[in-house]
Amino acid sequence: MDHFQYRDGKLHAEGVALDALAQAVGTPFYCYSTATLERHYKVFEEAIAGLNAGICYAIKANSNIAVLATLGRLGAGADVVSGGEMERALAAGIAADKIVFSGVGKTGDELHRALAAGVTHINVESFPELDILSAAAEATGRTANVAIRINPDVDAKTHEKISTGRQEDKFGIDLALARDAYARAAELPGLNVCGVAMHIGSQLTDLTPYREAYSRMAEFVGVLRADGFDITHLDMGGGLGITYGDEVAPTPEAYGTMVAETVGNLGCRLTFEPGRMISGNAGILVTRVIFVKEGLAKRFCIVDGAMNDLIRPTLYSAHHEIVPVSEPENDVELLEMDVVGPICESGDFIAKDRALPPLGSGDLLAVRTAGAYGAVMASTYNTRPLAPEVLVDGEDYAVIRRRFTVQDMLDLETLPPWLDSGTGAR
Ligand code: LLP
Repeated sequence: MDHFQYRDGKLHAEGVALDALAQAVGTPFYCYSTATLERHYKVFEEAIAGLNAGICYAIKANSNIAVLATLGRLGAGADVVSGGEMERALAAGIAADKIVFSGVGKTGDELHRALAAGVTHINVESFPELDILSAAAEATGRTANVAIRINPDVDAKTHEKISTGRQEDKFGIDLALARDAYARAAELPGLNVCGVAMHIGSQLTDLTPYREAYSRMAEFVGVLRADGFDITHLDMGGGLGITYGDEVAPTPEAYGTMVAETVGNLGCRLTFEPGRMISGNAGILVTRVIFVKEGLAKRFCIVDGAMNDLIRPTLYSAHHEIVPVSEPENDVELLEMDVVGPICESGDFIAKDRALPPLGSGDLLAVRTAGAYGAVMASTYNTRPLAPEVLVDGEDYAVIRRRFTVQDMLDLETLPPWLDSGTGAR
């Protein structure tokens, strides 16, 4: 359930009409709904209510500080994967002791800063990282709470590019090597080895791989405890799938029940890292039709949003529902078309072979389920300014990231002295 609905023939974000918003901020733009963010957070929270657990929202999904502050207000912590993400979480008012630092390639500087800031746990993914973390702990005079991310070698049955729990994926430490990693960590100064972490992939629409992976995790906790480790903490990762089109995603309740069945009796504090499940359906990308081009083989609806704004369709063959902002008549005859951007690549499309009502220049479209991995993955390819982000709350809205300008981009660049006519080009 989301709060993007038609009212009086116009698509609204909560109480705000999207055609008026498009007039005010220009297109394309991202629009997020506070009520939807809050609802999804609470649904997940209820699903894990019976467990001793906390939520560290995976901010990579949507890291605008206004989105983070909205979730932070509800009690969310943050899962961060870079020094930059950590600064965002802190800037949004999420306390350091609710921040988990994950990631396969953290640098010494990032770990140093994370320890100095006081993050709660570091999820370590390799032997060399243990050494770097120990050195950072010594240098900062802090003790690092460590969970080691294990790779359970389970196929999450999701898209190839977002599958992370198989041996051929770069993530985590192979389960067969992980016992040695704990032994190594125990020898190093500055580390408090107290947890096990796991994340097998994203957009999982089947609970079976989770069950398999979490069961392996539970078994491994037994091994570690027999080795004398006091394992008090499990990081369950994220990855719960959502509905983009006609897929059927497991309910958070079913997920919570499965977690209870697999690791619920271990007496550990659990951390969950949902990203997409919280923000995915809480956002849309609003784009305007530039014009429609009738080809011999295809009809192309060329819009002002493109792969630089939303890369998911071309990168993951992802399906995003598209609806006109003006509600179509019930009996309107649908036409098949590709919805494409202006970028000079055939890979620049938002949807292919989509049935939509007849469209013309100036019409507005909403690309749904764009609140996760949308704006955060945008680029300025073709010198297209990053689209603004708008947060709606009831009847109110605020621009939470302004549109870049071409001048912003030019200002980042410099001519070297030998090309700068002002300083005497050769
Ligand atoms: N925890 C870790 C360690 C992760 O790597 C991820 C996502 C999450 C949590 C959150 O997963 P979620 O609940 O959002 O599925 N750009 C891709 C998704 C990449 C996911 C990367 N890791 C997409 O657009 O589908």
